Amino acid sequence: MKQDLMKDIVALCKRRGIIFPSSDIYGGFANTWDYGPYGVLLKNNVKQAWWDSIVKSRADVVGLDSAILMNPKVWKASGHLKEFRDPLVDCKKCRQRFKADDLKNKNKCSNCGGELTKAKSFNLMFKTNVGPVESDKNIAYLRPETAQGIFVNFKNVLDSTRVKIPFGIAQIGKAFRNEITPGNFTFRTLEFEQFELEYFVESKDASTVFKKWVEDRFKWYVDLGINKNNLAKIPHPKSDLAHYAKAVTDIEYKFPFGQSELEGVANRGDYDLKQHQELSGKNLEYAPVEGKKFLPHVIEPSGGVDRAILAFLVDAYKEEKVGGETRTVLSLHPKLAPIKAAILPLVKKDAKLVKIAKDIYENLKDDLFVEYDDGGTIGKRYRRQDEIGTPFCITVDDSSIKDKKVTVRFRDSMKQKTVKISDIKDFLDKKLK
Ligand code: GAP
Repeated sequence: MKQDLMKDIVALCKRRGIIFPSSDIYGGFANTWDYGPYGVLLKNNVKQAWWDSIVKSRADVVGLDSAILMNPKVWKASGHLKEFRDPLVDCKKCRQRFKADDLKNKNKCSNCGGELTKAKSFNLMFKTNVGPVESDKNIAYLRPETAQGIFVNFKNVLDSTRVKIPFGIAQIGKAFRNEITPGNFTFRTLEFEQFELEYFVESKDASTVFKKWVEDRFKWYVDLGINKNNLAKIPHPKSDLAHYAKAVTDIEYKFPFGQSELEGVANRGDYDLKQHQELSGKNLEYAPVEGKKFLPHVIEPSGGVDRAILAFLVDAYKEEKVGGETRTVLSLHPKLAPIKAAILPLVKKDAKLVKIAKDIYENLKDDLFVEYDDGGTIGKRYRRQDEIGTPFCITVDDSSIKDKKVTVRFRDSMKQKTVKISDIKDFLDKKLK
C-alpha cells in the first residue's frame, strides 16, 4: 500500500467536496468532520444499502429511530456509567495523553520517553444538562451507542407489531464518545453514526445465529465492492470482551494505518434486557405462543457508518498512469457512487448540444442522482467525475444531433459505447442494478 495513501485520500475528499474538516474557517475542531455535497450522497447511499439489506429485504427485522437523549437511568442499567471508561495516563514531560491499554511500555511515554502519571479512569460519555440550571440533578448524556434505544423500546415494539422470535430491531443514528486518542481521519471521531441491529433469539439458538450474522455482515462489505482479501474476521479473546458481551467477532479492514475494526458482531446474551427489566421494574419477557415466557438473548451486528465509508473510499481509491498522466479514480460500487452519471455537452457554447444534454439531464434527474457538467475541457471533466467515482459519463457531440445517439464512457475501463438517447434510461437502470 502506498505510504501516503491516507494523506492523498484526505486531500481528495477535501478537493472534491466529499469530506471537510469541521469548522474549517476557524482552523477546524479536532476529530470532527463534515460531509460535503458529494460526501452526503455517498453517506446516504451507504446507509440506504445497509437499511435495504437489514430491514427492507427482511420480514424478520423492523426499524426504529430513537432519541439521542435518554433517561440517565438507561446508562446506569446498561453499565455505561460504571464500565464505559478508559484508563488514561499523561506524560509528565511532553503532556501527551494516552490510553493506558494502548501503551506497550507502561512506564515510559512513547512520544518523548518521559515519565508517565498513574492511570486515571475516565468515562467516555459526553455529559450535558437539561434545563437552564446546571446541576447534578438534571444531567443527561449524549448516547454512546444507539443500541440502548432499541432495548428500551423492546416492549413497545412487541406490543405494537406482530414480531415473533427470532426477530430484529434495527436503527441508524448518531453516537458520541469523548475519545481520548481519536484520529486517523474519520476512523475514530467524537461524533459518528452507527448502524446497529439487535436480533432477539432463544438462548439455545444464540451461537448459531451469531455465526450466521458474522458471515452475512462480512458478505455485505464484499458485495458492495470491498476486496475480501482486505477484510478479516477476528474473534475477541474472552479476556478482552466488553462488559455486556459473551462473544464478539470483529470484521476488520486493512486500513493504510493498520488492520482495524470496521464492525463488531456481539453475542450480548440477555444482559441488556435483564438489566433494564430490573431497573425499570417493567416485565420485558417474551411470551411465545406455547411454552413459558423468557428473556430473549440478543445478537448484535454493530457497525460505524463513517468507518464503512472510509473503508469503501480506501478500497476504491486508485491512481493509474494514462498517457503519461496520473489518473485518480474512485472505483466505488455504482450503488454507492454519489453521482450515477454525468451528462457532458462536448462544446459548452453549442446551443444544440447543450439543449440535448440538458434534456437528457431533465429526463434522468427525478430517478437518479445525475449531474450536468460543462466546465472545462472534456478531459478535465472526465477526471473530475473519475475522482468522485461517477460510473458513467454521457457525452453529447455533433453526431448526437443527427443520429440521436450519445457516447457512454465507463469509469473503470475508460471504454466507450454508443447508446441511443431514447435507451439511456434503460441502459443506466440495468447497469446500476
Ligand atoms: N453497541 C455496540 C457498540 O457500540 P462498538 O464496537 O463500541 O460497539 C460499534 O461500536 C461500531 O461503531 C464500531 O465497530 C465502529 O465502526 C463504530 N465506532 C465506535 N467508536 C467510534 C468512533 N469513536 N468513531 C467512529 N466510529 C466508531
